[in-house]
Amino acid sequence: MRKKVSIVGSGNVGATAAHWIASKELADVVLIDIIEGVPQGKGLDLLEAMPIEKRDSYVIGTNDYADTANSDIVVITAGIPRKPGMSRDDLLNTNYKIMADVVSKVVKHSPNCILIVVSNPLDAMAQAAYKLSKFPRERVIGMAGVLDSARFRAFIADELKVSVENVTAFVLGGHGDTMVPLPRYSTVAGIPITELIAPDRLAQLVQRTRDGGAEIVKYLKTGSAYYAPSSATTEMVEAILKDKKKILPCAAYLEGEYGIKGLYVGVPVKLGSNGIEQIIQIKLTAEEQAALNKSADAVKELVGVIGV
Ligand code: NAI
Ligand code: 2OP
Repeated sequence: MRKKVSIVGSGNVGATAAHWIASKELADVVLIDIIEGVPQGKGLDLLEAMPIEKRDSYVIGTNDYADTANSDIVVITAGIPRKPGMSRDDLLNTNYKIMADVVSKVVKHSPNCILIVVSNPLDAMAQAAYKLSKFPRERVIGMAGVLDSARFRAFIADELKVSVENVTAFVLGGHGDTMVPLPRYSTVAGIPITELIAPDRLAQLVQRTRDGGAEIVKYLKTGSAYYAPSSATTEMVEAILKDKKKILPCAAYLEGEYGIKGLYVGVPVKLGSNGIEQIIQIKLTAEEQAALNKSADAVKELVGVIGV
């Protein structure tokens, strides 16, 4: 049977995720939004591209959650994006109200789905979705680490003029200014980047990664990044639908792992058909652990404001 992925929010990230998912023929796709006409128009436009792409993904757009029924995965991108001068945290209260509205409707129609949360501030919104849905933690996953790591990988590949395929990188922690890129666990063809890039230059690449979202917002002025974010979301969708058991950095609800309890924070996880099948615990230096704790504290503060 065909897999079904519904995407809530048919704006930049949602519609572009639909594009990647359909063009890889991963699933049939339902785009849903509160704005009338936009999901229908974008859905039909994508459907009409399928004969050219030689893909049999069926795509529709709708304003009715009944059309999302029995989805395998629901991706939540609904919300407002940031504008220049705004941090992801400035979106907190508005996007929490949207999340409350969306999650109840999604859960009603797809009680067994896996939720991938994209809306910002990411870790707090993932925690909100987890609490509101009452799903087990395995089935509520936040997308951020795959994006942040991809940015770090792109910068490393560009710096060393090597194939992006040679570069692996890990970025842990919350999706914010306190995120924790881990050079020690980042490699080029298996060689740690600490052997290949001088410390001061590496520090600049780490900072550029932390500022990666803001760098794009500054250019776009009216919104935030969406090609890499939707591509990152699609990698998670593919890992789940194909039961790949892929290790990816994702926001997960920690219950003591890394010494953090009751909070969504980005850590390496194994993604398969059950969602998060394992939280991978890697050894951190005292400095890395302190940075992760600081990042978790930033998430805790936001979660406290919305009381989830
Ligand atoms: P956008 O403004 O292009 O699209 C958002 C869509 O959500 C709009 O079409 C809007 O009508 C819709 N929406 C609002 N309230 C809704 C509701 N109650 N039900 C259904 N749809 C609703 O924004 P964009 O660029 O697609 O970003 C979406 C969210 O994703 C933002 O919060 C942004 O900050 C976040 N984001 C997160 C990333 C991450 O790494 N986790 C990366 C990129 C964006
Ligand atoms: C980003 O990192 C805005 O969170 C979004 O591009």
